[in-house]
Amino acid sequence: MGNVSWSPDSWRKKPILQVPEYENASELEGAESELRRMPPLVFAGEIRKLKSELAKATKGEAFLLQGGDCAEAFAEFNANHIRDTFKSLLQMSVALTFAAHNPIIKVGRMTGQFAKPRSAPTENINGTEYPSYRGDIINDIAVDLEARRPDPRRMVSAYNQAAATLNLLRAFAQGGFADLHKIHRWTLDSMAGSPATSRYMEMAKRIEESLEFMRACGLDASNAEALRETSFYTSHEALLLWYEEALTRTDSLTDRVYDLSAHMLWIGDRTRQPDHAHVEFLSGVENPIGIKVGPSTNCDELLLLLEKLNPQNEPGRITLIVRMGHDQVGKHMPPIVRKVKESGQLVVWSCDPMHGNTHKASTGYKTRAFGSILTEVEEFFAVHRAEGTVPGGIHIEMTGADVTECIGGAMNVTDEDLSSRYHTHCDPRLNANQSLELAFLVAELLEKDRKENAR
Ligand code: PEP
Ligand code: CO
Repeated sequence: MGNVSWSPDSWRKKPILQVPEYENASELEGAESELRRMPPLVFAGEIRKLKSELAKATKGEAFLLQGGDCAEAFAEFNANHIRDTFKSLLQMSVALTFAAHNPIIKVGRMTGQFAKPRSAPTENINGTEYPSYRGDIINDIAVDLEARRPDPRRMVSAYNQAAATLNLLRAFAQGGFADLHKIHRWTLDSMAGSPATSRYMEMAKRIEESLEFMRACGLDASNAEALRETSFYTSHEALLLWYEEALTRTDSLTDRVYDLSAHMLWIGDRTRQPDHAHVEFLSGVENPIGIKVGPSTNCDELLLLLEKLNPQNEPGRITLIVRMGHDQVGKHMPPIVRKVKESGQLVVWSCDPMHGNTHKASTGYKTRAFGSILTEVEEFFAVHRAEGTVPGGIHIEMTGADVTECIGGAMNVTDEDLSSRYHTHCDPRLNANQSLELAFLVAELLEKDRKENAR
């Protein structure tokens, strides 16, 4: 580690944005010390494996699929919700593998995605000023002054929910559910009759034929682990640094420091100042790091950030998650891609087509147009094609639940539909049909690149 002054708590001496002010120091210390005694949620060896897989994505030999809730919620915590989001990610992943002929690195925005940056510290509701809701790990969404008070005990509740969620995800990934022979069973009831489902079923049929062929050759679930199980990684925005610090440990095998609250962590668009606390904290842990790159990104500052977070230029360490907006990406992304390429920094380029495409619907709901999301993804691929760089992944807010939060898609969710199943605690998510439809679009783009590169 280049930075000798770094320690898990050195962030505390730096300026910090987007975190709550806890009123009671001893309450905070109590929650921190309880978390420090808790077992880690993930293992350092798994983090190293993810990093080596991401290193392949920098070269176009793998593709990152990162997705899940904008904000996990205590109220939405149940086995069906976890299962359905997992199913949805599996479906997307086979569609992508099938087209790209490459491994898909599955990373959930799950098991710790609780803390949210907000545009203002307070909000005015019916004439009263309330502290903003900052995610269930910090305060309660209810419109009530006491509920909105930041409560450090919530970090312990969030940890417990993350642990139980991860336990189920590990069982799903390795206990037979993700066996490719079950590909038909990953569709959700809510998807019946959609065009994306018909397309999926056709693909599933072709995959099953290949599996039959492989069985005849002697390869099946009983002797080929890759058919029977899958790898699934976790990630969240490393925003609430008291929580992250408490789950940061030294790996006994390598003597290196890891944040064991998740495999991958990212820095939000609002907290990526090179001399601030969030960058300081992440500069000292070994995890793969995502950096959100929004339209306000200054190229020189980004290079400084890469130098600080990845001084050894280790491939797989940095994923740049570009989130410009469909009408901005063509303008802002090319100079950034060029500068990073010139600098020689090896990064995974990932596309977040969600966060630059949020608007208020006529009905008052915060929404996103599916068409704009698709456009941003297409533009992202077009920029890479023009610059000779590699599109390495997508980062999306989605759920397996049948919500109506983003408008458009083949099943045509309209402004008027938004009120029917609008459940998100924060930003609008793609539902299972929209997610699969998006995956097929990305699959087509990857297939086109693959065929062109083969020429
Ligand atoms: C998010 O990913 O939920 C988020 C807040 O993104 P950004 O920092 O890019 O706005
Ligand atoms: Co969001």
